[in-house]
Amino acid sequence: MLAELFPFWTNYGYCLIIIPIFYGIINIISKYKQLRCESGEENKNLRDSYSTEYIEDEPGNDEPALSIDLEHIPYVYAKPSVEDLKNRAKEFYKIANARRTIRFFSSEPVPRSVIHDIIKAAGTAPSGAHTEPWTFVVVSDKETKMRIREIIEQEEEINYKKRMGKKWTTDLKPLKTNWIKEYLTQAPYLIIVFKQKYGMLANGRPKIHYYCDMSVSIACGILITAIQFAGLVTLTSTPLNCGPALRTLLGRPFNEKLCLLLPVGYPADDATVPKLERKPLEDILIEI
Ligand SMILES: Cc1cc2nc3c(=O)[nH]c(=O)nc-3n(C[C@H](O)[C@H](O)[C@H](O)COP(=O)(O)O)c2cc1C
Repeated sequence: MLAELFPFWTNYGYCLIIIPIFYGIINIISKYKQLRCESGEENKNLRDSYSTEYIEDEPGNDEPALSIDLEHIPYVYAKPSVEDLKNRAKEFYKIANARRTIRFFSSEPVPRSVIHDIIKAAGTAPSGAHTEPWTFVVVSDKETKMRIREIIEQEEEINYKKRMGKKWTTDLKPLKTNWIKEYLTQAPYLIIVFKQKYGMLANGRPKIHYYCDMSVSIACGILITAIQFAGLVTLTSTPLNCGPALRTLLGRPFNEKLCLLLPVGYPADDATVPKLERKPLEDILIEI
């Protein structure tokens, strides 16, 4: 119709209308983004990507969580010889490679101080802005272990039968796992790791925890390796759907989320493990 009224009207004519409209929309979007940025909304999203729980900036929250006068001291370092370097790396690999997930435990007691030292080692993990967003709950009380087992077995039965689906349960079959978890009452200790989504400052204000998941995962890695290094065994488990019930049972606050449950002790005399292969170096290493 336009083309009939105005003979010069062609596809270029449409472009003359569409392009300004397009630029108009882009302009409105960028103005909106600028406004959000100035109002701090954009920063909030940015922060959400590295802090699991965003805490509003409040007046008075502009003090750093650590002391502004934090002292910086010389780093004490004993340089090993190249020979030592090579030997130590090899030795550590041997220890790490001997670690297996153990599902059959002895109830033989383990000195509590060993558990304390293992947790102290986990507590040396690096953490975003040194926020140390972890709590390790150690359970050795028989009744509490029994209650934990009841909670987990009840949920795991539903997980295996309904929630996990055919593929997941099929993939687990070679490992011969199911919802019966005897190790929860057999092992002398259960270490339950909680992630603190945020902390509390001395002034009662919430403290932002940065890179929470990564920090806690690193701490768990050290924990598992410390257990292995000490000469004990564990089973890495993430009890699915048991978080709130275990948090309540163990009296942990709302800002803590269940991450990992590790039974710790000696292996049962007749413990078996699936014969698994680990990927060789060339499959996990890329050198550039
Ligand atoms: C995040 C995570 C969760 C796991 N959850 C379970 C679990 O619920 N039950 C279990 O028997 N093993 C669990 N495992 C252990 C794995 O099955 C085990 O690490 C894997 O089969 C390799 O065996 P390895 O640890 O002996 O090398 C878990 C491991 C990880 C890393």
